[in-house]
Amino acid sequence: MLSQGEIRELLSGFESHPDINFLLNFKPFSQTFVLAMTTVQTKNIALFWPYISKKVGPAIQQVLDSRWVGQGPLVDKFEKFFESTFSVSRAVAVNSCTSALHLAYILSGIAAGDEVITTPLSCYATVMPLLFQKAKPIFADIKQNTLNIDPKSIEKKITPKTKALLVVDWGGNPCEMDEINEIAKRHQLKVIKDAAHALGAKYKGKPIGSISDFSCFSFQAIKHITSGDGGLLCAKDPKDYEKAKLLRWYGIDRDFKGDIYDKFKVTELGYKYNMTDLEAATLIAQLEDFDQIKQKRKSIVDFYRSNLKQVPGLEFIEVTRDAESANWLFTILVERRADFQKKLQEAGIETSLVHTRLDVYPILGGKRQDLPMMNEIESKYISLPFHCYLAPEDLTYIVDTIRSGW
Ligand SMILES: Cc1ncc(COP(=O)(O)O)c(C=O)c1O
Repeated sequence: MLSQGEIRELLSGFESHPDINFLLNFKPFSQTFVLAMTTVQTKNIALFWPYISKKVGPAIQQVLDSRWVGQGPLVDKFEKFFESTFSVSRAVAVNSCTSALHLAYILSGIAAGDEVITTPLSCYATVMPLLFQKAKPIFADIKQNTLNIDPKSIEKKITPKTKALLVVDWGGNPCEMDEINEIAKRHQLKVIKDAAHALGAKYKGKPIGSISDFSCFSFQAIKHITSGDGGLLCAKDPKDYEKAKLLRWYGIDRDFKGDIYDKFKVTELGYKYNMTDLEAATLIAQLEDFDQIKQKRKSIVDFYRSNLKQVPGLEFIEVTRDAESANWLFTILVERRADFQKKLQEAGIETSLVHTRLDVYPILGGKRQDLPMMNEIESKYISLPFHCYLAPEDLTYIVDTIRSGW
């Protein structure tokens, strides 16, 4: 049997192990048991970890102690705070980015039989609400250097049925919006931005939520800021903004002050897509820390970029010219991706594709052959751990593991 001092000595360096108290107090301690515990893999570096500020708990408690736990004054306050933080206007808070996208499709007049040109590399949520509208997603190819939709490929996919361009800023890196907007203007198409990855991104100095007809943000669990689930729609046109506020709450005007029968004269099919004050309080607390979140994420990108350059078999994704990325994912292209993932997994480092190409979903029709770049990078792209709680030693460990080869 070992003494407490001997156990402590053996466990030195493992003070942050989650089972340390159990180990120190384990009575029938044998040397073999301690050695076995200290040689097991202790690294467990997660891909994502939600940033939760210490201010969130008290903020939620305050809401719980008030009358308004549903949609109330804090939702309005969050919208105004979002608008001033990101220099955007006409923000409508909803319960998810999926809901924001659905509202954008309805407000764009997308209906049965319409075609919407989009990227194959995104979350299913990007296109699912198009199916609600009985519209058809048409997949354009992506660019190898950014993984974003290729404007040249968009041109080739336009038909008389095309109603809108639906673009996604992969990993937070803005698409080539000048080219996309020019095509949209020439063909009189709406531009809908799925900015779920892109909170805080800029293109040519302009905030990402101010460029397209509609911009949709996500506050789902692993995004820059989170309320568990949540979303927000920015509408360019004031009429769309007013209608979005009606549609997120049954089609009823919550601010209507006259006769109740007049208030309930619903003429539009609405939804239950509103945000609640519990979520808004959480998001206000997180948004107060946005500068720190942004800086931390930028420092992680800088570290990866300077320590992984010139690693054989590894290529970076570029930031679009004149754009500022929101740095949500750190995606790279690697040769022999299965071996790369295995090596990192064995070292306790999580990696993921995050999203697979959408066209392969049976509900979306199956793999398209006319997407040569998507086909080319399909076996190469992978995202590395990226969250605010990554410590310098975690990052060093990740790059050292990669640099040692796979
Ligand atoms: C590109 C993209 N669009 C839309 C969504 C859906 O967001 P939400 O979960 O807020 O509905 C996600 C979620 O991860 C996403 O990555």
